[in-house]
Amino acid sequence: MPCSILLDAKITLTFYQAVSLRDAAATCSWHIELMTQRSQSIVLIGMMGAGKSAVGLCLKSRTGFPQFDTDEMIRSKFRMSISDIFSKLGEDKFREAETEVLQKLSSAQRAIIVTGGGIVLRKENLELLKKLGAVVWLEADVATLFKRAAQTGDRPLLHCKNPREAFTKTLRARLSLYAKIADIRLDTSALTDDEVALAILSRFKKSRGNQHSVQSNDYDDD
Ligand code: S3P
Repeated sequence: MPCSILLDAKITLTFYQAVSLRDAAATCSWHIELMTQRSQSIVLIGMMGAGKSAVGLCLKSRTGFPQFDTDEMIRSKFRMSISDIFSKLGEDKFREAETEVLQKLSSAQRAIIVTGGGIVLRKENLELLKKLGAVVWLEADVATLFKRAAQTGDRPLLHCKNPREAFTKTLRARLSLYAKIADIRLDTSALTDDEVALAILSRFKKSRGNQHSVQSNDYDDD
């Protein structure tokens, strides 16, 4: 038997073993191996209410990678809540801080990176986000996003007369920006946070199986 066939057979067997391992093992260790080979972070983007922070935590526990949250980093830089930063220092200051935080993360280790919904507003941020790794856009229908986002009351952009209208307008203005930099796009409307995390990790597998780089746009609708 030619060497290449033997080699193919071995790869196929390893792949199926990996698939059953994925179903059986809670740690998804083979996903970690795939990502390690790529030396990339997973960068979560999307509108307020998309579930970025919660999904980030699930990814952190499944991969063991550290998690960085740009909102948290900004909060600790100013020692203020995001609402206070907006009201006392202004939105521009907050957006500046977002860029600074991304610049710091650029040279950091491979990680799960959770971003604020407006991180895509600055052009320079788009470049920085792409450099960090695979950009995953968490999306949902507008009603679901708004319902989740309005729950906590700590989103300064919703502190207005008609938050629902402001939300819809803001989302509409951002959709093309999210789409522009997303490598992977996932509808989270009907999924739990952990299901979203698993779906992200399985996209890495799929990209690998199809021999695509995770950095190429992947707009499958499954
Ligand atoms: C913002 C989203 C927030 C936070 C800030 C601004 C936005 O983060 O960064 O309130 O412009 O959409 P979440 O997306 O985590 O809510």
